[in-house]
Amino acid sequence: MPLIGPKNMFGKAYKEGYAVGAFNVNNMEIIQGIMQAGAEEKAPIILQVSAGARKYAGQNYIVKLIEAALLETELPVVLHLDHGPDFELCKACIDGGFTSVMIDGSHLPFEENIALTAKVVAYAHDRGVWVEAELGRIEGVEDDVKAEKSVYTDPDQAKEFIERTGCDSLAVAIGTSHGAYKFKGDAKLDFPRLEKISELLPGYPLVLHGSSSVPQEFVEMCNKYGGRVGGARGVPEDLLRKAGTLGVCKINIDTDIRLAMTASIRKYFAEHPADFDPRAYLKPAREAVKNMVRHKLKNVLGCSGKA
Ligand code: G3H
Ligand code: 13P
Ligand code: ZN
Repeated sequence: MPLIGPKNMFGKAYKEGYAVGAFNVNNMEIIQGIMQAGAEEKAPIILQVSAGARKYAGQNYIVKLIEAALLETELPVVLHLDHGPDFELCKACIDGGFTSVMIDGSHLPFEENIALTAKVVAYAHDRGVWVEAELGRIEGVEDDVKAEKSVYTDPDQAKEFIERTGCDSLAVAIGTSHGAYKFKGDAKLDFPRLEKISELLPGYPLVLHGSSSVPQEFVEMCNKYGGRVGGARGVPEDLLRKAGTLGVCKINIDTDIRLAMTASIRKYFAEHPADFDPRAYLKPAREAVKNMVRHKLKNVLGCSGKA
């Protein structure tokens, strides 16, 4: 099955009130774990590659690994650039076969974000590629785009931004943040703001970044086996379920994959100190990714059986 763009995936998700999972990938085991979970749940899948992941694995390697996955699946799969920092990187990914790109101009002043996003949209749409943009700032750090303080998305500005740029989906800031340390006090999202944005943009697919739940079983397992992941907290699963009913069609998950893999590898090392064959510890790590993603698809995103 060849790669597809997200149009029909999001159309169905919007209508039926669920979200598609967008999972960050940077190596073979992560891709295999996600694809196995998708196959078992018969769920649509978005594989996304950050600028940092692309630098780590190399674009050719990552695209070829995903092409290998496509040879073995009937699932609809989108290949997406996560947090594209500039036009050139978006162009390189579009030219290299990605079916969707994000241009992240959220750190720029409004007019500059519009100009950059519109430039990427013009290039992408000529080639049939989907464009996600971001308005408002989501706290946290990606390799190439940094935001120190969250600025929530203004609903009226969101409408104007979409009309003037022609972007196909929009990442909104409503209280999520990247990484494993999301909330100091109560975990809460600004749902009235999300509802307002959805009302102003009927039928338009929204995106929620920073949506890992930071399962405490992984945090505890990391810490039990020599890690120091103190005070990590994510977005409660019921809040993510609710977002899926309010126009959010794509939910981004990276940190939970990292935690699942690392917890499994730490445990393996502690229990098998004499082993040194990477296959021995990467196999259970891949299985841990699969089980975690299966849980998300089925119990959080609601997209089991929607492929
Ligand atoms: O949104 C950020 C993702 O978790 C990507 O993180 O830039 O470290 O690959 P990264
Ligand atoms: P998490 O850090 O919550 O997994 O968010 C990932 C993300 O938004 C990727 O763009
Ligand atoms: Zn993100």
